[in-house]
Amino acid sequence: MYRLLLNLGIVGYFGLFLLVTGGLAAYWAIYQQTAEQPIAFPHRVHAGQLQLPCNFCHRYVEQARQAGIPSLSRCMDCHRSIATERSEIKKLTRYFEAGQPVYWERLHQLPDFIYFSHKRHIKGEIPCAACHGEVTRMEVVRRVRSLEMGWCLACHRERGAATDCTTCHK
Ligand code: HEC
Ligand code: HEC
Ligand code: HEC
Ligand code: HEC
Ligand code: HEC
Repeated sequence: MYRLLLNLGIVGYFGLFLLVTGGLAAYWAIYQQTAEQPIAFPHRVHAGQLQLPCNFCHRYVEQARQAGIPSLSRCMDCHRSIATERSEIKKLTRYFEAGQPVYWERLHQLPDFIYFSHKRHIKGEIPCAACHGEVTRMEVVRRVRSLEMGWCLACHRERGAATDCTTCHK
């Protein structure tokens, strides 16, 4: 009897352990996703300390569906002369001089069958942070929202935006 209880206890602890780690892993996978990037680009420095506006780099965010990722020549405007001795800037310079594109890993990616437009949301005065979190404080950009349908709908209901299926499913 004693042994049975002990065994159950161990199984119980193990089960609890699995539950907690599993839960954390799932939370992490959905809400805190980061990507290993070819160059460790710090948003905290550029968008935070230097206070460069988001659309200095994400140039199409107010005019199009896609925000756009800057070309390396945008970076080299500064890094031809700034921090040139750092290893990540040397890497950047090598890509640039070889005319080689950097393949940044995409963090936010809706399925193809979803219609989403940055332009509409920026016009509606939704700040970047409502959907992307406080990017100005992130060393490496994280995905802080699930991008699931329930998330889109919750905000649409709250703000009185369209919720009929064809708004997002074309
Ligand atoms: C100096 C240029 C620069 C500025 C300024 C900048 N970004 Fe970025 N941003 C990048 C680059 C380069 C990437 C791709 C590399 C990466 O993910 O870190 C990126 C990636 C992102 C991503 C992830 C895209 C994805 O899904 O993969 C988000 C979200 C983002 N930026 C939001 C912002 C916001 C919000 C601001 C303003 C607060 C901002 N950025 C300012 C250059 C910039
Ligand atoms: C407006 C000027 C400016 C632009 C444009 C710019 N940077 Fe920077 N970057 C800086 C400054 C200033 C620092 C901080 C240097 C320091 O710590 O002394 C910095 C720091 C960095 C660092 C950290 C270096 C280290 O190891 O400490 C990386 C990596 C970097 N930038 C990459 C990029 C990339 C990639 C782009 C283009 C998407 C870019 N930068 C665009 C000015 C700029
Ligand atoms: C209403 C929510 C929302 C707002 C507000 C928003 N974004 Fe996004 N962003 C998204 C979603 C969703 C995606 C994925 C889009 C896709 O897969 O087509 C995304 C993708 C991105 C990407 C990567 C792909 C691309 O579009 O080039 C960048 C960069 C980005 N956002 C930057 C910004 C910046 C900068 C702002 C503010 C000026 C902003 N976003 C405002 C929801 C938002
Ligand atoms: C933080 C709030 C918020 C989130 C999150 C959000 N939206 Fe929106 N969305 C709005 C608002 C507000 C409008 C209306 C903007 C305007 O005034 O035109 C809108 C408008 C739209 C429109 C244009 C509607 C039309 O009438 O043509 C589409 C499409 C859309 N959203 C898709 C999405 C999708 C897909 C997602 C999730 C991936 C999403 N939205 C997440 C607030 C949000
Ligand atoms: C505001 C935007 C928005 C509206 C409105 C919306 N959806 Fe969605 N829907 C999404 C997004 C975003 C996804 C993708 C979610 C994901 O990747 O998990 C999705 C996914 C789905 C899926 C799953 C498809 C699959 O193969 O995974 C179904 C089914 C669906 N929606 C049906 C509906 C129906 C029915 C309505 C109308 C009652 C509706 N949606 C309205 C944004 C929306």
